Amino acid sequence: MPPYVASLRPYVAGRSPEEVAATYSLSRVVKLSSNENPLGASPLALARMRESLDQLNRYPTGLDLRGCLAEKFGTKIDNVVTGSGSESIMANIVRTFLSDQDEALTSAGTFMGFEILARGRGIPIRTVPLRQDWHIDLEALALAINERTKIIYLANPNNPTGTIFTKQEFDAFYKHVPPHVLIILDEAYFEYAKDNARYPDSLFYRYDNIITLRTFSKIYGLAGVRIGYGFAHADLIANLMKIKLPFEPSTFGNAAGIGALDDREFLNHSLQSNARGMRIVSEGLASLGFNPVVSEANFLMLPCEGSDEAERFTQSLVERGVIIRHLAGFGLPSCVRISIGTDSENQFLLETAQQGLVTAHR
Ligand SMILES: Cc1ncc(COP(=O)(O)O)c(C=O)c1O
Repeated sequence: MPPYVASLRPYVAGRSPEEVAATYSLSRVVKLSSNENPLGASPLALARMRESLDQLNRYPTGLDLRGCLAEKFGTKIDNVVTGSGSESIMANIVRTFLSDQDEALTSAGTFMGFEILARGRGIPIRTVPLRQDWHIDLEALALAINERTKIIYLANPNNPTGTIFTKQEFDAFYKHVPPHVLIILDEAYFEYAKDNARYPDSLFYRYDNIITLRTFSKIYGLAGVRIGYGFAHADLIANLMKIKLPFEPSTFGNAAGIGALDDREFLNHSLQSNARGMRIVSEGLASLGFNPVVSEANFLMLPCEGSDEAERFTQSLVERGVIIRHLAGFGLPSCVRISIGTDSENQFLLETAQQGLVTAHR
């Protein structure tokens, strides 16, 4: 086994509600740890998936969903790639464009998926610390580019901080990026941020060295289906297609994506529910003495006094039936991340947080 694989550890998924309920003998457990849509899946996606049942004996071409994405976002089918989750497209980018001499660059305190994929290929990855205000530091990243840098990975909004970098910040950063360096703009939480006038929707940045990644896992509630998509210059897409497994994503994934793209009602309902929950949870946590980081996504990051406090707070909530995420694995051991739930889940979280706080501070 190559040493860079031997040194990796398998992904440890968060705790499941069933396991937590059994361990602590709880009648109610809510999962607010994976930034999923708490309202369920898009009904139109589910309807399309049901309709696709009689085609399951055939291999999918994927052209139908790619065509719908091209039409909806005003681009050509040659500029669209799909995959089994946006992370699968990320894996194909790593396999397609990185070779032994290359390095990758990203921020500390960001989604770990890209870093793990790069390390799994033995690609060195350098990180730049977050700014004091928990935002990605684009100025420092621009300065960190060197002659070996091949890919820069940026999540906007960023997971787990929920922060965005602005159009102005991105424009200034882009001027420092050499044309042979590929920028991955991971917009997994795009729909939550798109109406913010300062948010740089990457489809307005159709530069040749930018690849946009998006997903149906979050706002469309399809995390379990594994379906994501991306946009880039036709040459980049053509090269990705050489590496991508030919029949990925599945017939179900394609059908779900097509249905979801039509589901404006579910999209709007999910956005409204999230905005309401974000306000209630932020205010509620602030009244308990926390200082949540302002978020443009469907989750909130809470800095705690230290790593012990963050760990104890997480544990005391889990024992009372609210699963949240301690961010030690993201390199932010003094922080926790809480996904926004349904109205009733948010209420349960706030009641539980109040009790958990008493314990955590003892
Ligand atoms: C920033 C970011 N990118 C990508 C993903 C993975 O998305 P997908 O389910 O499409 O693979 C996540 C999931 O948490 C994420 O937070």
